[in-house]
Amino acid sequence: MATRRCVLKAGVLAGSLAGSFATAARAAAATPAASAALTPFTLPMPVPPVLKPSSSTADTDFYRLVVGESTAEILPGVETDVLTYNGSFPGPTLRARAGRRTVVTATNLLSRGVSLHLHGGQASPADDGGPMELIQPGTRRRYTYDNRQVAAPLWYHDHAHMDEAEHVYRGLAGFYLLTDDHEEELNLPRGKYDVPIALRDARFDADGQLVYVPDDFEGRTTSLANGRPQPYFNVAARKYRFRILNASNLRFYTLSLSSGDDLIQIASDRGLLPAPAPARSITLSPGERADVVVDFGRHPVGTRIVLRHRASRGAPPENLVAFDVTAKARDRSTVPDELAELPALPTPTVHRDIVLERAGRTWLINGKAFDPARVDTAVAWGTTEVWTVVNRNRVPHNLHLHLVQFRILDRDGRPPAAGEAGLKDTVRVMPGEAVRIQTTFDTWTGRYVYHCHMLDHSAMGMMATMEITD
Ligand code: C2O
Ligand code: CU
Ligand code: CU
Repeated sequence: MATRRCVLKAGVLAGSLAGSFATAARAAAATPAASAALTPFTLPMPVPPVLKPSSSTADTDFYRLVVGESTAEILPGVETDVLTYNGSFPGPTLRARAGRRTVVTATNLLSRGVSLHLHGGQASPADDGGPMELIQPGTRRRYTYDNRQVAAPLWYHDHAHMDEAEHVYRGLAGFYLLTDDHEEELNLPRGKYDVPIALRDARFDADGQLVYVPDDFEGRTTSLANGRPQPYFNVAARKYRFRILNASNLRFYTLSLSSGDDLIQIASDRGLLPAPAPARSITLSPGERADVVVDFGRHPVGTRIVLRHRASRGAPPENLVAFDVTAKARDRSTVPDELAELPALPTPTVHRDIVLERAGRTWLINGKAFDPARVDTAVAWGTTEVWTVVNRNRVPHNLHLHLVQFRILDRDGRPPAAGEAGLKDTVRVMPGEAVRIQTTFDTWTGRYVYHCHMLDHSAMGMMATMEITD
């Protein structure tokens, strides 16, 4: 039910998304903020606030998320128009625990429909927040997440049909960090030493406003870490756990540390790896997560270590976040040699080909653009399937499945790297590549989408529907 205030607000904000952005803030921004001219590492990296439940019972935590227009100081001294959950850019972090239920009531104050999707969550079709399950302007909707899955760095974001790309680009995304008893027993870095970092691409105009042009790969030259360009983050000389999310619409990141230290990956999209996987660099395509431990205890106070991105071997690195070691600290945390046991892989009985391609300006899966009325893949509940995902384009893509987790069997016949060999829900597929994934459909029945998570592509057709039936 819409409250009177919601209705009024939605009425005032009626109009196109781009047109409805306030011009007042723009006028107030006297200094044009050419983001390129920004001095690196002058702004602190914010950590999104952890959302408190509005109420809790013995087994359920209730939360409220309000989708609205807001402004954020992304570039120094400039108010940038953004879309937010609860006024926060990026959205607040929800923390959940396996065995406890999370209920989120999302209210839409925008003048157009939104959809709230929990990426990586095993939600019922009604709670999944698919592209056609809109929260109409001025209304609200309740989502129930059972959290019957293992600890994992999940995230939530908008999914409104054809608008998901612009909505997420303008700010509608946040972390949903799920823990469980097993993970808590591991003694990994926790509390303020467990820090989510959302990386994303962005393009600003001369007034410091976000520019959204579909498929604008080359225009989005700025990267933001938790909503700030090239911030610094003060750390103590000890181990930290960073939940790194590639929240970009289009950008792939290949991450490394300027110190040459390994990133110790402990979890991927859907849970802990069997064992820590040290890596010089980690590539994340949009939607993917890497949960890594970095030990600053090996470096003296005063050291600066930069998390950076390198597009290709010879390319100059792009600095993303500077970690400044500013204090000593005690560190009782550990990274055990064994983290989790992966479930056994059942023998698959169904094989499918998923072809990512394009025709003109439309992005396609198996020759078709998304049609929400069509079921593309009929799955029998309980079946274990292998999907061979092929990229027939000159640009990279990836594939994300709603509902299920999967395992990567191989890339062009080669086994996946250790960091990719765990539980996944999104996988990159480079030009010309064929990647085989295996999944078992043993949770909910109903209709769910799968799509390229370069959201500009999914908004332009690179999405399809699977229906799981008994
Ligand atoms: Cu991150 Cu269809 O979702
Ligand atoms: Cu998803
Ligand atoms: Cu794509």
